[in-house]
Amino acid sequence: MQTPIQLFVPHFRVEECLAEVRECLEKGWTGLGYKTTEFERRWVAYTGLPHAHFLSSATAGLHLAVRLLKDREGWADGDEVISSPLTFVSTNHAILYERLRPVFADVDEYLCLDPASIASRITPRTRAVIFVGLGGNTGRLAEVTALCQARGLRLILDAAHMSGSRVAGRHVGHQADVTVFSFHAVKNLPTADSGMICFADPELDASVRRWTWLGIDKDTYARTNSDSAYKWYYDVENVGYKYHGNSIMAGMGLVALRYLDADNHHRRQLAAWYDDALGGAGGIGRVPMSPDCEPARHLYQVLVDRRDEVMAGLNDAQIFPGVHYRDNSHYRMYADQPPCPRARHASDRVISLPMHVKLTESDVRRVCETLVAVTASRVG
Ligand SMILES: Cc1ncc(COP(=O)(O)O)c(C=O)c1O
Repeated sequence: MQTPIQLFVPHFRVEECLAEVRECLEKGWTGLGYKTTEFERRWVAYTGLPHAHFLSSATAGLHLAVRLLKDREGWADGDEVISSPLTFVSTNHAILYERLRPVFADVDEYLCLDPASIASRITPRTRAVIFVGLGGNTGRLAEVTALCQARGLRLILDAAHMSGSRVAGRHVGHQADVTVFSFHAVKNLPTADSGMICFADPELDASVRRWTWLGIDKDTYARTNSDSAYKWYYDVENVGYKYHGNSIMAGMGLVALRYLDADNHHRRQLAAWYDDALGGAGGIGRVPMSPDCEPARHLYQVLVDRRDEVMAGLNDAQIFPGVHYRDNSHYRMYADQPPCPRARHASDRVISLPMHVKLTESDVRRVCETLVAVTASRVG
């Protein structure tokens, strides 16, 4: 039997991660502060973004992005946020957590939000757009940014797939009011589970630090390590959440960050091999990358007819790709959305081919040869 090829395989530099974790255990500090602040500093240095706050997940970050903008801008319940139907449900749940209304716009050939479709969905109640950089792609983010500025809308960038994505040499995130990254185990910067929220506005950055620690105005590490005799005196300003990241995850993140550019380079090489092998293949459409983007290449996506049958054929050959994503309006709770024909078309056809740093050129060749054969037999 052939060796299975999986969509994602997390790659941890085990000895280096264990050294970071050991430091935390020996110091007796595994929580908020210590490694979390070091990781935030390193993320700011790496991305050039002005602020970064480390979290337990990107889902928590998207929730807080919506929550803090809603509070500051005075949005009312039922106000609208334009979002993508082709995303992980976290993106759209974040809108509903705050009793706002997600309104889906259609995607373009990059499977990212199409600025023309966004424009057609704007109403007097529209307050923000959440742009998802699918697979690390920037799509037409520059046009979306300009549209948001022109129409007075806030821009939230769901950069769960975008750690290391750059445009003209600059890391993504500078365009948005707030950018949220995921460091889930299968993402480009793998920890077990964590994320980062990067507000442009220093006040919102200061505020989010309290929101992720139950509304408390001083973190425990700062209190423990302060000279103050009265460490138990702190204020609680609001009903915050317990969403902050911890030092064990931050230690893993510090290790992964050292390898992020090299890992993304390998991902782009895998994508180039996929491109070469699939270039002339009939019946297999490739999802392009925006030409001005140096993508993190979280995903390599193709479009085929009779997708589920093609997937079954690949599985028979011990190849296990994925689907990013099913059109969220397939889900009962998002069923009342306006039609997005391009997203629906992609949702029925899209396949994410295996993409992780342990893959080799011969793995890519095997995936492509099998995909070409299976597609021809299913469609032909
Ligand atoms: C596009 C997108 N947004 C948000 C998330 C949520 O990330 P996390 O698992 O860190 O909460 C994910 C995770 O898969 C994602 O793919």
